Amino acid sequence: MCGIIGILGKRPVAPLLVDGLKRLEYRGYDSAGIATLEKGRLVRLRAGGRLARLEEKLHNHPLYGHSGIGHTRWATHGAPTERNAHPHMTDKVAVVHNGIIENFAELRAELAAFGYRFSSDTDTEIVAHLVTNAMENGLAPAAAVRQTLARLRGAFALAFIFTGEEDLLIAARKGPPLAIGRGEGEVYIGSDAIALAPFTNRVTYMEDGDCAVLSRSHIIIYDEAGKEVARAETVSTGSSFLVSKGNHRHFMQKEMFEQPEIVSHSLAHYLDLGGKTVKKAEQVIDWRRVERLSCTACGTAYYATLVAKYWFENLARLPVENDFASEFRYREPPLPAGTLSLFVSQSGETADTLASLRYCRAQGVKTAALVNVAESTMAREADIFLPTLAGVEIGVASTKAFTAQLSVLAALAIEAGRQRGLLDKKQESALIGALAELPRYLNEALKLEKQIKAVCHDLMAAKHVLYLGRGTAWPLALEGALKLKELSYIHAEAYAAGELKHGPIALVDETMPVIVIAPHDRWFEKTVSNMQEVAARGARLILITDKKGAAACSLKTQATVIMPDQPEIAAPIAYAVPMQLIAYHTALWLGTDVDQPRNLAKSVTVE
Ligand code: F6R
Repeated sequence: MCGIIGILGKRPVAPLLVDGLKRLEYRGYDSAGIATLEKGRLVRLRAGGRLARLEEKLHNHPLYGHSGIGHTRWATHGAPTERNAHPHMTDKVAVVHNGIIENFAELRAELAAFGYRFSSDTDTEIVAHLVTNAMENGLAPAAAVRQTLARLRGAFALAFIFTGEEDLLIAARKGPPLAIGRGEGEVYIGSDAIALAPFTNRVTYMEDGDCAVLSRSHIIIYDEAGKEVARAETVSTGSSFLVSKGNHRHFMQKEMFEQPEIVSHSLAHYLDLGGKTVKKAEQVIDWRRVERLSCTACGTAYYATLVAKYWFENLARLPVENDFASEFRYREPPLPAGTLSLFVSQSGETADTLASLRYCRAQGVKTAALVNVAESTMAREADIFLPTLAGVEIGVASTKAFTAQLSVLAALAIEAGRQRGLLDKKQESALIGALAELPRYLNEALKLEKQIKAVCHDLMAAKHVLYLGRGTAWPLALEGALKLKELSYIHAEAYAAGELKHGPIALVDETMPVIVIAPHDRWFEKTVSNMQEVAARGARLILITDKKGAAACSLKTQATVIMPDQPEIAAPIAYAVPMQLIAYHTALWLGTDVDQPRNLAKSVTVE
C-alpha cells in the first residue's frame, strides 16, 4: 500500500521525488516524506496528510541533495502523523518501506534492550536501527542490509540511502513490487513504472526476494540466495502524461466517462466484433478440459467474478466457485484436477490475491490472471495472462477497471460456451453482437448523470441505504453499496432481493432509501415482489430499470432511473454506471474527497 521512490541523480532530486510521489499517491495518502544527502549528510522533510502539505514545506525549506528517497504512506503501524511518516532514519541510514514487518515487536524489544531509542510507532523504524546496528558492528551498507533482511518476516519493499554514500541506493523486495529505472547518468527505483515514467521508460522489475545495489553507473541485483542475477530490462508503456484529469473535475469522473472507449478496447482484444466471433489468438484456454472454475479476488474485482459465475454457469454449464482472496489463501481449499483458478485484479499486486495465486501454483493447478497492469506480479506469475485494457486507473474507487473486467469475463464465458458445445454459431454471434453495442449503452447510461445527481441530493441525508438485486443485478447491488460506502461514508448494505425477508427486512422503515437494480430480465417479476415487501414497510424506493421495467412496475417510487433497453448479457456492465454515478454524486453533495477517500489506498499490498 505505501508508495516508495528513490533517485541517484545529476541534479537536485527533491522535485523529482515529489513528482514520482504524485504518481504513487494512489497507493496511500496519510503522510509523505523525503530524505536526501547534502554534503554526505542525511536530511529529511516529512508532513502528515496529503502530499501537498509536504510540497508546501519543501517550498519554505528546499532540499538540494542529488540522491534521495521518498514515501507516501497508507498507515498500518501508528497514526498518520508526521512523527510516523517515512523516511525513518538514524545518523547512518534513511529508509522507506511499503508493507508490514510481522516480527517487528520482537525486534523492537531486542533493539530496545541494546539501548536503541525509537521516535515513531512504526514497524519500519526497526529496519533503520537494525541496519545501523550491523554497520556499527563493522559491516558495509550492502552487507548490513542483507543481514537485516534475513531477520525480517512479512512483506516489504524497502529503499535505503546512507550517510556519506552519495552514489549508493539499495532496494529490496519481498512481496510488494519494485521497479528499477535507468536514465542518462541517473538511476531510479519506484513502487511501479508509472512513478518512473517522467524520468525513463527503461525499467527492470525486481523479482521476489531480490536485493539491488545501485550506483549511477551500475545496477547489481542479488536473488534471495545472495547470488548475482540478471533481470531483463523492458521498455515500459506507462506514459508520463497518464496522470492528468483532462477536463474532468476528478479522476473518478474521467475514468467513468472513459468506459465506453475502454470497454470497446477490451472487447476488441478478445472478440472480432464485426465478424461476431472470438478471436483465434485469444482462445488460449481449452475450456473442454476445465471441469471447475475457481474465481478469487478482492473488493470490486470479487463482485466482477460473482457476475461471471452467472455467465459461466449459464452459457457454458461450468461450475464456478467464488472466494474472497483473504479467505481462500488461509482456507487452503482442495483443488481437484480439472480446476482452472482465475484471479481478477486491477493492480495485479493485491497481497491476498497474489498469495492465493501462489497457493494454486504450488498445488499444481493451472492459473489465469485477469489483470489491468501488464507488468504486475500476477500478470507475470500466472500461467495465463488475460489483459483488461482499461489504462491506468487512478481514482481509488475502481470504475473502468470493473467494467473492463466484466467485458473480458463475458467474452471468456461466451468462448467457454462455444468450446463446450453449448452455444451454436448463431447464439455466439447474437451474444457478441450484444456486447458490441455496449459502448452505446454505456454512453446512454452516462447521460443519466443529471437525473442521478438530483436523486443523490436526497440520498445524502440518509444514514443507511439498502441495495437490492437478483441474478446478475445482485453483485451489482453489492458493488453499488461498496461504492457508496467508500466515497460518501454512508452505511450501505446490499442483499440478494430474495434474502431480505430472512432478516434484513427488519431494518426497513420510512427513513430507509432502497435502491433496486432491476432490468426487465428473467428475474424482474421476483424482484418486483421483493420491492412490494419493502414498499409495504414505507421504504423510499429508487428503481434502476429500463423502459419495459418502468412500464411493468406499478409501485410508487421516489425516483425511477431508466436505462437503455439491452440484452441480458450487456446489462451487468452498463448498470455499473448508475452505481458509480450514485456514489460519486452523493459524495460530491457531501463534500468528501472522491479520488482519495479516507482510510483507503488503491493498491492493497498488505494482507
Ligand atoms: C473498490 C476497489 C477495491 C478493489 C480491491 C481489489 O472501489 O477498488 O475494492 O477492487 O482492493 O483491488 P485489485 O483489483 O487491484 O486487486
